[in-house]
Amino acid sequence: MFESLTALPPDAILKLIGEHQNDARENKVDLGVGVYRDEHGQTPILAAVKKAERYILDHQQTKAYTGSAGDPVFNETMQDLIFGDHSSASGRITTLQSPGGSGSLRVAAGLILRAKADVSLWVSDPTWNNHVPLLGGAGVQLETYPYYDADKKCLRIDALLETLSTIPSGDIVLFHGCCHNPTGIDPSSEQWRQIADIVVERGLLPFIDIAYQGLANGIDEDVQAIRQLAERVPEMLVSSSCSKNFGLYRDRVGALSIVSSDADVSQIVYSQASQIVRTIYSVPPDHGAAVVSHILRDPDLRAQWAAELGEMRERLKSVRSMLVEALQETAPAHDFSHIGSANGMFSYLGISPQQVTRLKTDFGIYMEGFGRINVAGITAKNVGYLAESIARVL
Ligand SMILES: Cc1ncc(COP(=O)(O)O)c(C=O)c1O
Repeated sequence: MFESLTALPPDAILKLIGEHQNDARENKVDLGVGVYRDEHGQTPILAAVKKAERYILDHQQTKAYTGSAGDPVFNETMQDLIFGDHSSASGRITTLQSPGGSGSLRVAAGLILRAKADVSLWVSDPTWNNHVPLLGGAGVQLETYPYYDADKKCLRIDALLETLSTIPSGDIVLFHGCCHNPTGIDPSSEQWRQIADIVVERGLLPFIDIAYQGLANGIDEDVQAIRQLAERVPEMLVSSSCSKNFGLYRDRVGALSIVSSDADVSQIVYSQASQIVRTIYSVPPDHGAAVVSHILRDPDLRAQWAAELGEMRERLKSVRSMLVEALQETAPAHDFSHIGSANGMFSYLGISPQQVTRLKTDFGIYMEGFGRINVAGITAKNVGYLAESIARVL
């Protein structure tokens, strides 16, 4: 039977990781893989996570199955983190623990197909490179809306609003909550308000993917758009990930929150989503969610986590300015200021695929094909070399 299958080319990012690992050059730079790195190039385990793990090791009583929706305490805690303790929508929000943000996106896709199989889901152009395979692969019909102006290196807000105004009522629109991947360009508060006005006016269903809460402007600041939307729309989907902001990548922690028109519908939605989980992975992994839940409910650990997350956020901001300054010196004829004002880990450098290849082959600098860089790979030590190499290929 399996002879009928043909081999697929390696996943682009995994191929890039392999190439970087096999590169013997000492001054090589990895700006490809999507994980946070500190100034030593490490992706450390947060101290708050280590402490919570020790606590769980000592106090956890059982490894028996949880339910398909995971731990209710984790779900309540995540709901508060995203929507706030006093959301007036809280009675009509239901949250299910999931294996990472990806798991929650997959469950959301299942729910969309059950509720309204012929609906279209609109994703930004460009979007995270797994959105289309994951959501489209699950069977959801996808469309795109304009997002990034590659010439001016900014949000195409007018085109975005114009397209939103033509999307059929009832369709779903996927937005990145903050730290848009791959561009790092987020709508301003005023632009979010304009987006929300059209969403409400046209009866669109907002679907927010928030994989970087706390890495743009702050833990509460980064979910303002979600909180405001939740007050204004009858229905909404929020897929969240704890991979980046808790550094729990491989432990697979995330949540799917669904806002329904009322508490009765919310219960129906919960039962349907739980059954979708049962038919895919049955129950979510527990360990990482237990860590997150313990951190968020212990005031000292929560404060320590917020401080560690703040350090990550500040480092991302400072390496962005460092790169822009270095490029001003080495390539003064080019404007890279968009990198300085963007959020989170990613930005488009704004160079051609040929220049991306030259950076790799001639200088050992690795990034995704379209010139997406993970700024977390930049350090005080490599920024000079990086800026000189970029200037050389321009
Ligand atoms: C926009 C976006 N959504 C979802 C995810 C998925 O994260 P997870 O690793 O938790 O599945 C990512 C990860 O890179 C992402 O960038």
